[in-house]
Amino acid sequence: MPHFGDISSGWIKRIENKGSMLVQLLFFSSVLLSCISNGSAGVTSTFVRNEWPSVDIPLDNEVFAVPKGYNAPQQVHITQGDYDGKAVIISWVTADEEGSNKVRYGLSEGKYEFTAEGTVQNYTFYNYKSGYIHQCLVDGLQYDTKYFYEIGDGDSSRRFWFRTPPPIDPDAPYKFGIIGDLGQTYNSLSTIEHCMQTGAETILFVGDLSYADRYKYHDVGVRWDSWGRFAERSAAYQPWIWSAGNHEIEYFPYMGEVIPFRNYLHRYPTPYLASESSSPLWYAVRRASAHIIVLSSYSPFVKYTPQWKWLEQELKRVDRKKTPWLIVLMHAPMYNSNDAHFMEGESMRAVFESWFCRHKVDVVFAGHVHAYERSYRISNIRYNVSSGASYPVPDKSAPVYITVGDGGNQEGLALR
Ligand SMILES: *[C@@H]1O[C@H](CO)[C@@H](O)[C@H](O)[C@H]1NC(C)=O
Ligand SMILES: *[C@@H]1O[C@H](CO)[C@@H](O)[C@H](O)[C@H]1NC(C)=O
Repeated sequence: MPHFGDISSGWIKRIENKGSMLVQLLFFSSVLLSCISNGSAGVTSTFVRNEWPSVDIPLDNEVFAVPKGYNAPQQVHITQGDYDGKAVIISWVTADEEGSNKVRYGLSEGKYEFTAEGTVQNYTFYNYKSGYIHQCLVDGLQYDTKYFYEIGDGDSSRRFWFRTPPPIDPDAPYKFGIIGDLGQTYNSLSTIEHCMQTGAETILFVGDLSYADRYKYHDVGVRWDSWGRFAERSAAYQPWIWSAGNHEIEYFPYMGEVIPFRNYLHRYPTPYLASESSSPLWYAVRRASAHIIVLSSYSPFVKYTPQWKWLEQELKRVDRKKTPWLIVLMHAPMYNSNDAHFMEGESMRAVFESWFCRHKVDVVFAGHVHAYERSYRISNIRYNVSSGASYPVPDKSAPVYITVGDGGNQEGLALR
């Protein structure tokens, strides 16, 4: 694997070569952005997003525009719907009434010969009432095929498309984009627009979507809605593989909202049952030549917990002959040299790092720290409270750790 960008300090370094390059990984949100291409050394992108200012775009801006027409579907997004990429979950919101749960789809534009029927739900969050949130599984799709789909009723219906991945195969090329900590500022817009220009086929999202939790009361739900309309420009066409960050927790005793992840879980479904997970917050999918494991930094993960037991089983299901790439997504980085969020990932490191080395995870992507950073292959698995060996050492079985939390949210960059 060629290199992504230059970072220096201690154990932070470039990724080593892993033989033939099968999966392209694009880091859209990096200020120091680089990208790589098939089989060749890395090409550093000229894309540099503004560092400052980083303020939320006003609600009346056109990037949040509600689509025209009575009850028109809005906040459309898709994600993988099964384990191997032959299904998508399509989600959208209608504001005026429930409307249809149907997705009409087909192989050519304007000709929607198939129909899938989904479900609808609504919820309240303090005094905010959500729109009608539709979720529809479209399955039994062919690999490597462009599908066109239509949702909504009559004159208000809207049309989109997506492309299914190639079959699971060690040589299947695929282009992933990686975004974390996006938010809804002008910088977020520049990140998402750049990401769309690069032709990323699927986005691996490492948590912290809307930053709606920086608002209060009714505005929290309002900013989840605006973010849904904002992300639609990409997420209605490219599947986003979701992971949850701290901004999704939304534990707000002051307004009586104390169940974690409520807004996020109502809005962003994941195919967790397909990997035998018991929670949408941790799961796995396989796509082209990659096996992608999503973990939840803010759910229990210590020994004997559901997430721990699930990961133990999921790692056994990894078949490197089919998916030579083993990628882990989480929000809080296990290695981080910045002051911002220093050591917040340490507890998960203590629990999972030895498994990552034993199973030779290629790369762990995290967000949380609003910076780009990449490690050498190092591990600290000899360490325990009674051994003096507390410093990470080079380890060829260890993953490379990449932090890419600089998506552009209103909190700005971690400057050390
Ligand atoms: C969901 O929508 C229905 C129909 O508009 C309404 O009666 C109900 O109160 C809503 N439920 C919640 C939880 O907001
Ligand atoms: C922890 O470190 C001590 C001292 O090096 C060693 O004797 C012990 O076996 C280690 N324990 C585990 C569980 O690795």
